[in-house]
Amino acid sequence: LLLLLFSRRRREGEPPLIKGWIPFLGKALEFRNDSYKFLQQLQKCHGDVFTVLIAGKYMTFVMNPLLYPAVIKQGKQLDFHKFSDAAASTTFGFPAVNTGKFPGLSDKIQRSFLLLQGSALNTLTLKMIGNLQLVLQQDFLSSNAVGRKCDWRQEDLYEFCERVMFEATFLTLYGRPPQTKMDVHTQLHRESWIDALLDNFRKFDAIFPLLIAKIPIVLLGRIKSIREQLIRFFHPHRMAEWTNPSEFIQARTELLNQYDTLQDLDKSAHHFAILWASVGNTVPACFWCLYHLLSSPKAFSVVREEIMGMFGEKEPETMTMRQDRLTREQLEKLIYLESAINESLRLSSVSMNIRVVQEDFCLRLNSRCSVYVRKGDLVTLYPQSTHLDPEIYPDPQQYQFDRFVENGKMKTEFYKGNQKVHYYHMPFGSGATMCPGRFFALNELKLFFCITLLMCDMQLTAGQQHATMDKSRAGLGIMPPANHISFRYRVKKCLQRQ
Ligand code: HEM
Repeated sequence: LLLLLFSRRRREGEPPLIKGWIPFLGKALEFRNDSYKFLQQLQKCHGDVFTVLIAGKYMTFVMNPLLYPAVIKQGKQLDFHKFSDAAASTTFGFPAVNTGKFPGLSDKIQRSFLLLQGSALNTLTLKMIGNLQLVLQQDFLSSNAVGRKCDWRQEDLYEFCERVMFEATFLTLYGRPPQTKMDVHTQLHRESWIDALLDNFRKFDAIFPLLIAKIPIVLLGRIKSIREQLIRFFHPHRMAEWTNPSEFIQARTELLNQYDTLQDLDKSAHHFAILWASVGNTVPACFWCLYHLLSSPKAFSVVREEIMGMFGEKEPETMTMRQDRLTREQLEKLIYLESAINESLRLSSVSMNIRVVQEDFCLRLNSRCSVYVRKGDLVTLYPQSTHLDPEIYPDPQQYQFDRFVENGKMKTEFYKGNQKVHYYHMPFGSGATMCPGRFFALNELKLFFCITLLMCDMQLTAGQQHATMDKSRAGLGIMPPANHISFRYRVKKCLQRQ
């Protein structure tokens, strides 16, 4: 097989082929070190479309966003679920969904995603407001915590975003495990169940890129047992006792129960996968948005003014925001905040859109460009090259919080040369595989900023280095920071008392 893989030669009409000299691995190491730089160099030498051998897979990269529509709309010969289904089942430990064993399950799962939109999104948004306030008040602002309520507290910025978003998202989607039973079961005292869950989640997430790359879990030390603990956390018997789960999670529980061929722990693994999907990218996204805002006084003041203008200066006095005071329509009107979030996502997203070629065929990209691709190869879009394209976004490495605002509205027209770019902002993927949680994610981020900016005063700690991105997670969503960033915060009403 190795010989077969390595002996592949480029056929006429196929894109340039780059195999490297290491059998099987091909160019995997260069790709992993800094995928953006690596692909930029290849684009310079070989043009907008080329095929690279990466860890046993031939990946045809389409680098020009003006060619994306042909790939995204080509549903028949480019399958969009095969790759992610296979990756999800090995990573999270449930049996592959698209087999004869579970007829109709894949479609039902897709339909369940509708419960992250429309009127169900309103309910999720309201719950999220309450939970964000609860988490902030209980864990960070209570007088029982270390120090007095009005003192400045110093903390790692990523850990702050992680703790708040992880707990608030968990409570919003899954509901609350009963305290007494949890205490008896896990020997943990009151709030510790969420800390223990987060601790395991962190360890699992650190190894996530290796699992996605199909490194067998048995080779990854303690991760197998950590994943088992995470899966067991979602055992149906336990979940049955959690109060106030979202419609989305209830519907998924019901649909998984329709399949006798699924064991209890398979169902748990599906729930665990959703936990990862719902926080794995939202936490680093939250970090970058907050970091960029705190680093840019102009952005901070415009966004803060916009939020204050919407909800009023008096709000921090009461330290709570009544849920009926914050509607989805109001969130939609916060265009500077939305632009600031979009800008941070543009700079930090490294997701890839992958399609599996179903048969040898000629992929017509536009009237001047067609390439032959082979069955089993992966056709890949790499949106980071669009996000950092100076023709589309002048000074692409610069953070410009209002880049997505034009004439008082969200800017939706971007050009490359004189051609309009349809897919100019793709942190949530594209077409049929686009993230079903994107509306909820955007609302969660907006709520996080509304509530923290209303409740807290925040500053980056002076004299530290800029945050840099951990580039080793290429292809997997939002990059986490590579270094620690510390900040300080205090309850806002203390300002007024002093
Ligand atoms: C899939 C990004 C938040 C649920 C995806 C994909 C991306 C993505 C890039 C893959 C799309 C593709 O294959 O083309 C993000 C980002 C988020 C975020 C950047 C936050 C900033 C969320 C949230 C949820 C969620 C809050 C809520 C439950 C999912 C699910 C999938 C997915 C279930 C898999 C869909 C499928 O299998 O068809 N996300 N996501 N995501 N996301 Fe998100």
